[in-house]
Amino acid sequence: MHTQSTNLHEVIYVSTRAEGISDHEVVDGIVLPSGIKNRRLNITGCLWFSPRRFLQILEGPRKAVEDVYAAILRDQRHRDITTVSSSPITNRSFSRWGMRALQSDKEQSIQAIIEEYAPGTHVESNVAQAASDQRSVLEQIRVYLIHLANAEHATK
Ligand SMILES: Cc1cc2nc3c(=O)[nH]c(=O)nc-3n(C[C@H](O)[C@H](O)[C@H](O)COP(=O)(O)O)c2cc1C
Repeated sequence: MHTQSTNLHEVIYVSTRAEGISDHEVVDGIVLPSGIKNRRLNITGCLWFSPRRFLQILEGPRKAVEDVYAAILRDQRHRDITTVSSSPITNRSFSRWGMRALQSDKEQSIQAIIEEYAPGTHVESNVAQAASDQRSVLEQIRVYLIHLANAEHATK
């Protein structure tokens, strides 16, 4: 039997929200249509957002993920897009969701990775140190986002 894991790919990136993009526009204009399109393409993932930033995880067949990411890179609703990770994976973390929205205004482990990758951000020394072990921070973020995604009321 063929397994779904063949060719499964994951992209993680951080970006800065464009000026004037409201939370409402993120949810209605990005999250909802993305969920529908991703499902069609067999892509799953999550979109974490704070008042200033996005952090997205996309997972699915490599070609589909790369094509969607190419469109995302051209999208004017965000800027300073930085690829954190792009690699093959064996299992999905967000298999239940086409695009799970996760909203937060403060979360240390997420802030650490964002400040590591987003240009022009002031980085407090303890945060910079936490972010220096990239693999460990990425793993913390993945675990934290999976926890958030599975929790009730996760978007608040
Ligand atoms: C932060 C952000 C995340 C996005 N995530 C996705 C996504 O997961 N899937 C998707 O299809 N489009 C996503 N988009 C929208 C794409 O940039 C693009 O507008 C869309 O894929 C175009 O689809 P269409 O050509 O079918 O209209 C995202 C856009 C932004 C700004």
